[in-house]
Amino acid sequence: MPSQPAKPAILISRLLPEPAIALARSRALVDAYDQDAAMPRQELLERLADKQGLICVISEVVDEALLEACPGLRVVSNVAVGYNNVDVATCTRRGVVVTNTPDVLTDTTADFAWTLLMATARRLVEADRYVREGRFRQWEYMLLLGGDVHGKTLGVVGFGRIGRAMARRALGFGMRVLYQDAVAADAATERELHATRTDLATLLRESDFVTLHTPLIAETRHLINARSLRTMKKTAYLINAARGPVVDEAALVQALKEGWIAGAGLDVFEAEPTVHPGLIGLPNVVLAPHIASGSLETRLRMATLAVENCLAVLQSQTPPTPVNPEVLTRR
Ligand code: GLV
Repeated sequence: MPSQPAKPAILISRLLPEPAIALARSRALVDAYDQDAAMPRQELLERLADKQGLICVISEVVDEALLEACPGLRVVSNVAVGYNNVDVATCTRRGVVVTNTPDVLTDTTADFAWTLLMATARRLVEADRYVREGRFRQWEYMLLLGGDVHGKTLGVVGFGRIGRAMARRALGFGMRVLYQDAVAADAATERELHATRTDLATLLRESDFVTLHTPLIAETRHLINARSLRTMKKTAYLINAARGPVVDEAALVQALKEGWIAGAGLDVFEAEPTVHPGLIGLPNVVLAPHIASGSLETRLRMATLAVENCLAVLQSQTPPTPVNPEVLTRR
């Protein structure tokens, strides 16, 4: 009888939805961490040492040291669209394929960024706290007044999939949309989304809501700093569901305290999971623990896509969403 080819070995470094793990188990030998917490680095290195595939999340740092310790690794499948936790250049140099999970989370992430925008402008979290604290004793005319959203100007920094999904939502609110991106969208997209490309300074000066959708790369680290915050309107709001280090958090705390801007909605933080202590006591900021893509449906779709990416590479097929496809042509 012809012998079956040996199944590849995969480490899944995070507790993922069961159907995705079952899919992985159907075609690979799977070692799956059983906790929804970051695997300690030493344990990660030890359990990954004899594996060909890694399915991981953004808390795992995939660097030269990890790749050195795991010479048989062929694929790093990140369960996220952002992959700033992975040293892609080093992976590429060493012939390791990197994949991510774009598209499947676009609308869910935009939904949540929009939720932050609305909650911040209309002071929803303050209002909830007010009611729970038993302070709603009579209707007050001037109680918890916020800013309007409809008819205002939305500034989208980073006009990729999620930035465009934000612009699409703004259509329903009759908003004017400005966007800043190194690459211009095509004319049809600009027309469809009523979006106008501009430079960052103009966007910051003219927008009532500035929403960040850039990847974290050297050029976007502290893109929003004291100077940019001072450029924004005093009545404007900053929304960040991208990556924490895109914003200089200390400068943001000062801006919120001193009224340079009206408020902020943050799903991500500079030194996650640590949150700048200055943010905690401020009423004009809405905080969330990095859950923008966190719907039941989307977290399952992301995990399934990550497994499909990993299995495809290990079966010498083209993965659906590679980050460094140039490695595939070298195989
Ligand atoms: C989450 O932060 C992601 O990049 O998907």
